[in-house]
Amino acid sequence: MSSAAVPSAPGWHAPADHLAPVYAQWPLDVVDASGVHLHTRDGRSVLDLYGGHAVAALGYGHPRLLATLERQARSLLFQSNAVPLEVRARAATRLAHFAGLGLDTVFFVNTGAEANENALKLALRLTGRRRIVAVEGSFHGRTAAAGAVTWGARSKWYGFPQAPFDVVFVPRGDPAAVRSAVDAQTAAVIVEPVQGVAGAVDLGEAFLVALRARSSEVGAMLIADEVQCGMGRTGSPFAAAMYGIAPDMVTTAKALGAGFPCGALLMADHVASQLHTDDLGTTFGGGPLACALIETVVDVIESDGLLGNVRRLSARIRETCLVGPVTGSQGAGFLLGLRTRRPARDVQRELLERDILVGTSADPQVLRILAPYVLEASHVDQLRDALAELPP
Ligand SMILES: Cc1ncc(COP(=O)(O)O)c(C=O)c1O
Repeated sequence: MSSAAVPSAPGWHAPADHLAPVYAQWPLDVVDASGVHLHTRDGRSVLDLYGGHAVAALGYGHPRLLATLERQARSLLFQSNAVPLEVRARAATRLAHFAGLGLDTVFFVNTGAEANENALKLALRLTGRRRIVAVEGSFHGRTAAAGAVTWGARSKWYGFPQAPFDVVFVPRGDPAAVRSAVDAQTAAVIVEPVQGVAGAVDLGEAFLVALRARSSEVGAMLIADEVQCGMGRTGSPFAAAMYGIAPDMVTTAKALGAGFPCGALLMADHVASQLHTDDLGTTFGGGPLACALIETVVDVIESDGLLGNVRRLSARIRETCLVGPVTGSQGAGFLLGLRTRRPARDVQRELLERDILVGTSADPQVLRILAPYVLEASHVDQLRDALAELPP
């Protein structure tokens, strides 16, 4: 189309940095980072308890991650899935064992939304049904299928004229609603065992067991979206295991590459055994650099005992940080919500003024702590002291 044919929006000029103006941004001019600290242009060292939306599981500049990055980049930066690679097979094996969920087949992708998109597609195709049940408050991503099962997306940003399948939302913690919503027309139930964007809302064992039981009863699949709560964030490898449920599929991303963009869909045998060549695909998913990093992330979490560290320091936060404006805590591990008496956004700003970065959530009175797993007790004490200084 010629430029003359494109009507320009009156009075609108592209931002000086040429970036799409779609993100609210914090007043933070970061130039680099190390350990659990972000360094700003004006010389501040900010304790990062948010980890770039739950991604920086090993903090910044972790020596083993950097060593893998350099070694793999030198040896083979990229090859497609048309070429079998040892490093890809090793990453899949390592991830399946780490998950310990009996989901022994892995399809590597690039993002959380892409993992969910593929999981939903498989459930719809393999059951031949056209309805997905999701849970109120959920966030599953911004693509057509993932957005369709994201609570509130339709009224806020969805944009597609219609969802690609029927969607029913059930209230959290309501097994009776689950019984009536999940029926013989349901292809799958998709659930974040601990909801992230909602504000670290732990859906709890009873509700998750009810979802699993009802799905099995009617022949629907259970998809656990562990994009945010998986990969050790709750202090267990995956939250499904923490609650003793066995999903048919699990999706994960974020901490999976600890900063390198990648995602994965883990499948039970009864799903994987129905796959044929060309059913799924991606160019970049399962690339050697991503796979080498996934293998290292799992290795560091296991060999450095980071799950234990997450559990211990999460307990320390819950025990010591209910001070100042904080009235309670929720969630699990380092997917932790701190409930505030005042708007969480104000408390977030006040903490940032004291060089501590925390997140907010869809709940206006919940701060989100998504700290790197390498956090130390002294950092928790720094948070406690800063909160204690704030007005209640
Ligand atoms: C639970 C959950 N699922 C899916 C997604 C989407 O992941 P991505 O942004 O990598 O597409 C997110 C992102 O925040 C998430 O928290």
